[in-house]
Amino acid sequence: MTLVTPIILDCDPGHDDAMAILLAAAHPSIELLGITTVSGNGALEKVSYNAQRVCALANIVVPIAKGAADPIAGKASAAPTIHGVSALDGAQLPEPTFELSELSAVELIAKLVTECDRKVTLIPTGPLTNIAMFLQAYPQLHDRIEHISFMGGSTERGNWTPYAEFNIWADPEAADIVLRSGLPLIMSGLNITHQALATPQVLARISALNTELAHTIVKLLNFFADTYRDVFAMPDPPVHDPVALAIIIDATVAKLVSAPVAVELTGTLTRGATVVDLYGNTGQQANVEVAMELDVEKFWDMMISAIETLGSR
Ligand code: BDR
Ligand code: CA
Repeated sequence: MTLVTPIILDCDPGHDDAMAILLAAAHPSIELLGITTVSGNGALEKVSYNAQRVCALANIVVPIAKGAADPIAGKASAAPTIHGVSALDGAQLPEPTFELSELSAVELIAKLVTECDRKVTLIPTGPLTNIAMFLQAYPQLHDRIEHISFMGGSTERGNWTPYAEFNIWADPEAADIVLRSGLPLIMSGLNITHQALATPQVLARISALNTELAHTIVKLLNFFADTYRDVFAMPDPPVHDPVALAIIIDATVAKLVSAPVAVELTGTLTRGATVVDLYGNTGQQANVEVAMELDVEKFWDMMISAIETLGSR
């Protein structure tokens, strides 16, 4: 019997979030219960619309609920230099085929978790605002959460500031709540997601699928490649977000190390930096399984077969 893991994807699409949506919808060992959106790569309205358009593109029908427009403290900012003005530039996408849920993200997460007959895994691939708000509003549902596998942070340096990665930088207070929750956490930071590169070989494999979906994905990833080249001088763009889900699909896709992880809230130069104690120097208890090394081939096989599956339906 195949074990199917029920998940909720909390995202801010975003090129790599879009890839995570496709993987979640297509993989046979995942049951995508719903999608929730959070302001991050773009304003809440934009990323919610993008989630709807990605679903329309790949014929995915799941509830989508809008979440937080701003972080717990301060105001939202976006990442147009990386994802473009729409937060998902580079290809023409179809208009939404269904309406957003009337529930808020937090309400939808609570409903789906309550109704599911198994524990649910949360996959946040944007700022952690919705997840922190859910954990605070529904302490009685904490024991219904199997894992929180998030993309964010780094064991090394950052991408949005010298020491902070974008998702954690965008809402450090939310990250702090999640990191202190005591729930089983898996962190896919830049140290691993920078191994998930959409190289020319990967793009050629996707193109060779020769479906409308595959061609659209290649256009999106080409846009992403251009901005990564311009902003970070990286020859190939890292497709960060699906890594957090790939680990739930197949734990052997990454090497995990238990470590204490905290987030810097007050540093004058380092706010939003994840402080990962890989050598146990702090004497703190490990609270996170930190993803370190990616099986790159396994990851792309998974991702490309998702695009193949969805493109032929
Ligand atoms: C993260 O920031 C966003 O731009 C991406 O979607 C990813 O979730 C990488 O730092
Ligand atoms: Ca994201």
